[in-house]
Amino acid sequence: MTPDVARDPAPATAPVLAAVGLTVRFGGITALRDVSLEVAPRSFTGLVGPNGAGKSTAFAVLSGLLKPDHGRVHLAGVDVTRATPQARARRGLARTFQQPELFLQLTVREHLVLADRVRHRRSRLWRDVFDAASLRSTSGAEDERVDFLLELLALNAVRDWNVDSLPLGTSRLVEIGRALASVPSVLLLDEPFSGLTEHESEALADALGKIVNARGVGLLLVEHDVPMVLRLCQRVFVLDFGQLIADGSPAGIRANAEVRDAYLGDAGSVPDRVATTRRTDAP
Ligand SMILES: Nc1ncnc2c1ncn2[C@@H]1O[C@H](COP(=O)(O)OP(=O)(O)OP(=O)(O)O)[C@@H](O)[C@H]1O
Ligand SMILES: [Mg+2]
Repeated sequence: MTPDVARDPAPATAPVLAAVGLTVRFGGITALRDVSLEVAPRSFTGLVGPNGAGKSTAFAVLSGLLKPDHGRVHLAGVDVTRATPQARARRGLARTFQQPELFLQLTVREHLVLADRVRHRRSRLWRDVFDAASLRSTSGAEDERVDFLLELLALNAVRDWNVDSLPLGTSRLVEIGRALASVPSVLLLDEPFSGLTEHESEALADALGKIVNARGVGLLLVEHDVPMVLRLCQRVFVLDFGQLIADGSPAGIRANAEVRDAYLGDAGSVPDRVATTRRTDAP
């Protein structure tokens, strides 16, 4: 059994995260209009859409940084629409940032120890960041949990590297490891594949597969890389101009005429390479 995995007594089909009828306006712009989506436990869900479709706005509302004008957010069946990001984290929601936000003077392993201590409320965060020696003195239980994450994310070879010497793809894995230390039931990933080499993308896809299967996490992938989303996700939601235009399996999304039209115009298809092109005659 994996250490410290929260057991979810809810039936497997109940969504771990759900948005119901979200509307967000910025002045005259409606960034989201009556958008509903859900993330099942132990699954990959994707949220895609052309530039300006409302993906980042949806991400901000789900993670608690932005309150919607209308609609609700439910986390494991509990209404968290007005809850802070910290309160959502305590209820099992974790997120990553597009630019990894790491303490550059710490090693990979020290980062994960720090995150584990924060989770178990044993870190005086700033003391630990500036006194890395305390992060090298670990208990057996800490070693077990941190070693599990290093193994899961294939980070053992770089465990003693300072994070400022890591390539971008490896930094993303460290940030995901840090998010996993909080033992989330749902993990929101903000464009995790952007800027990665093909090799790094494959390593990340492998790691995400293990996170879903070994830790039972529900993943929401907000991503420009449509081919990767169609490859990994069981369910995909497509936004365009703030509205949900499709929700379904990758095969259904590929065949959806409105999705093709949103991306490339009438003659187009869901992109294999160009993931963000919006048709030029759009209003
Ligand atoms: N803080 C803001 N103030 C005003 N308008 C905003 C704000 N944030 C987003 N918008 C507008 O809301 C709409 C949706 O933007 P959003 O950033 O959510 O789209 P996106 O799908 O993430 O786009 P991209 O693919 O370019 O990241 C856009 O028209 C955008 O200009
Ligand atoms: Mg965005």
